[in-house]
Amino acid sequence: MEVDKLENKKIAIIGIGNMGKALTYGLLRHRTISPSNLILSDPTLADLMHFKKSGINLSFDNKEAAKNADIIILAVKPQDIFFVLEEIRHVVSQYQLIISIAAGIDIKTIKSILGRKQPVVRVMPNLCAKVGESMSCWAKSKEVTRENTKIARAVLQTIGKEILLEDEGLLDRATAISGSGPAYVFYFIELFVKSAIELGIDKDMAENLVLQTLIGSVKLLEKSQENASILKQQVTSKGGTTEAAFDVFNSSDIDKTFIKAINAAYKRSKELRIKSLL
Ligand SMILES: NC(=O)c1ccc[n+]([C@@H]2O[C@H](COP(=O)([O-])OP(=O)(O)OC[C@H]3O[C@@H](n4cnc5c(N)ncnc54)[C@H](OP(=O)(O)O)[C@@H]3O)[C@@H](O)[C@H]2O)c1
Repeated sequence: MEVDKLENKKIAIIGIGNMGKALTYGLLRHRTISPSNLILSDPTLADLMHFKKSGINLSFDNKEAAKNADIIILAVKPQDIFFVLEEIRHVVSQYQLIISIAAGIDIKTIKSILGRKQPVVRVMPNLCAKVGESMSCWAKSKEVTRENTKIARAVLQTIGKEILLEDEGLLDRATAISGSGPAYVFYFIELFVKSAIELGIDKDMAENLVLQTLIGSVKLLEKSQENASILKQQVTSKGGTTEAAFDVFNSSDIDKTFIKAINAAYKRSKELRIKSLL
């Protein structure tokens, strides 16, 4: 982990909702980062009060938060980022690293609002950042130095795994897979639990069976030399119960529907990015 790179760095987080909180907790987990080097900014007192006793600096003023930070993390909704960038552009300098997690807002747009050659990193994390298990894909502007690349990596490693993409365009694809992905998994869990209840299993037990089956399967896949397709075959014996279930899956268009849904998310991600440029 590159987290030592963050020692003595001043970090501002603007927007303390789901992701801003996850990032703050991620940074706080590492003792090399002193809470007094963090400043959080959000218009809502209740969001800031989460960190009342943490020793972190809290503010309602984005300019105040941004002005002395080495790293400025923008964790507001995409529609709010334009306002925030306009607000902070006069206090930000080219020596500060901007990290944006706003979906669909590209690096070019951020730089053009700031109006200078700015080191900018654009990230697509996911909600699993809340438990330090995000899959964060990211891209950087050409102004991001080797040192700043290590710093961005260090920030993202505090919330999970990260992959630096060569091509920013790949972020739309990553958005459809890992950005939206936790929602697909939760949907699958909902369906799985519903099926168990239909079989007459009570809700608590259904949730337990499904959750542990999921955790076990993921751990097995992670530790195994085999891929998911081979492991699936290991559960499915000829003429058995699993095969009976797959006969039904295979006779429906479930695979086509899944691919279609992912493509719709990808298309929407591109549309939202284009809309933000207009
Ligand atoms: N949630 C996900 O799964 C996920 C995954 C990947 C990427 N993202 C991206 O992460 C960003 C944040 O998402 P989120 O789910 O954390 O949203 P969220 O929970 O709505 O948090 C956004 C926060 O920003 C605050 N805010 C609004 N205007 C502001 C301003 N002018 N200055 C400072 N703070 C302001 C909001 O305060 P109020 O509540 O008072 O408005 C809220 O606390 C989005 O751009 C999203 O695209 C989210």
